[in-house]
Amino acid sequence: AEGMLWGGRFAGGPAEAMFALSKSTHFDWRLARHDLAGSVAHAHALHRAGLLTDQEHEDLVAGIGRLDQMVVSGEFGPAPSDEDVHGALERGLIEVVGPELGGRLRAGRSRNDQIATLVRSYLREELRVVAAEVRQVVDALCTQAGNHLGDPMPGRTHLQSAQPLLLSHHLLAHAWPLLRDIQRIVDLDARLAISPYGSAALAGTSLGLDPQAVAHDLGFTDSVPNSVDGTAARDLVAEASYVLAQIGVDLSRVSEEVILWSTVEFGFAKLDDAWSTGSSIMPQKKNPDVAELARGKAGRLVGNLAGLMTTFKGLPLAYNRDLQEDKEPLFDGLDQLHMLLPAMAGMIGTLAFQTERMAERAPQGFSLATDVADWLVRQRIPFAQAHDISGKAVRYCEANGMELFDLTEADLPRIDEHLTPEVLTVLTVEGSINARDGRGGTAQKAVAAQLAECRATADDL
Ligand code: ARG
Repeated sequence: AEGMLWGGRFAGGPAEAMFALSKSTHFDWRLARHDLAGSVAHAHALHRAGLLTDQEHEDLVAGIGRLDQMVVSGEFGPAPSDEDVHGALERGLIEVVGPELGGRLRAGRSRNDQIATLVRSYLREELRVVAAEVRQVVDALCTQAGNHLGDPMPGRTHLQSAQPLLLSHHLLAHAWPLLRDIQRIVDLDARLAISPYGSAALAGTSLGLDPQAVAHDLGFTDSVPNSVDGTAARDLVAEASYVLAQIGVDLSRVSEEVILWSTVEFGFAKLDDAWSTGSSIMPQKKNPDVAELARGKAGRLVGNLAGLMTTFKGLPLAYNRDLQEDKEPLFDGLDQLHMLLPAMAGMIGTLAFQTERMAERAPQGFSLATDVADWLVRQRIPFAQAHDISGKAVRYCEANGMELFDLTEADLPRIDEHLTPEVLTVLTVEGSINARDGRGGTAQKAVAAQLAECRATADDL
């Protein structure tokens, strides 16, 4: 098995189909620079343990640095004969510093603790980028909310008219879940910051290397307390994948609304030309493809999570080769969000809201009925009775082809004796909205405070 990291006990090389199945350079090469950073820390550990002379240590670290430059410039890359990123980089190191010195670095480590560590450090770096990209979407929502602070819209439950809302309030309701996703990334980072290096294949190393020193060299906060867990656990990969899926689901919920709002029937929002596409046959078309792709990718991201957890279930300790299957779904989720999030920020930031149409629809579908009931409660009518009276008013309006705000003094006694002319003063969108002025409510003052809170929360993350 020429060129393999494990040739010694084999009389011949792997079958072609065996090698093709085993090979991972086409997806794990993206971990190369993390592998090299691990190698530098490992070289320090070998030196501290007296297993490298000062000169060897210096030459090895310089050689790894040279190889890193070659990786960055593209001068060095995986060859067809390389099985994985670790093997390719050992070959590269031997090319740079020779077989004597290059062959020393593997002492006391295994691809099992290497890969577990690389995935954690790679994830820490990538999730920071994802968090910044999510932040762009949050900022787009906050900017739109700020521009539409006082604009009303119909609020819905069950997609049916419910109560009037401010558009700003509704938009911020999409920002908060995304902020929680960023918080999830921050929380997860504390767990990802524990290094498995030093676990070796599963049992730890006999060479007197210090895993905590390696962890600190690599920017981790600590090393794993259990080497078997360190090499075999992939719950953090699943957790990262969950956060990616949750971001996808959160984006798909905004997207579904953008898709509805941009129909002629709703007519609530117009998509910017830069963030929509046309049809090859229907000249009038302007399609919400960003939103649809977001909705579609949410399914894909959830699928990645389901696939990962299915792969992990029932695996005996410690490392099993099944675990190599964690990379592609994880990397795919990151790649998809790196594409999707900037497009979402662009689409949301450029949406043109049809505020007159939204305002006109806001009191329709009897959405002021709760205000009638609340007014009756303030007249000391028990809520159950008030609900009933307001319901009769809705029935009256429906039968007469009118809305609650069309009611006149003459209509009221025909509905119920408790409805005096003063009730007409609450039958406005503005009154309905601004009456809901507790924390988290839709009154303009409350939403302005909420927007400030949302921005401050984002800045604190
Ligand atoms: N490529 C493997 C993975 O992604 C790491 C190498 C461990 N291979 C092995 N034969 N022990 O999990």
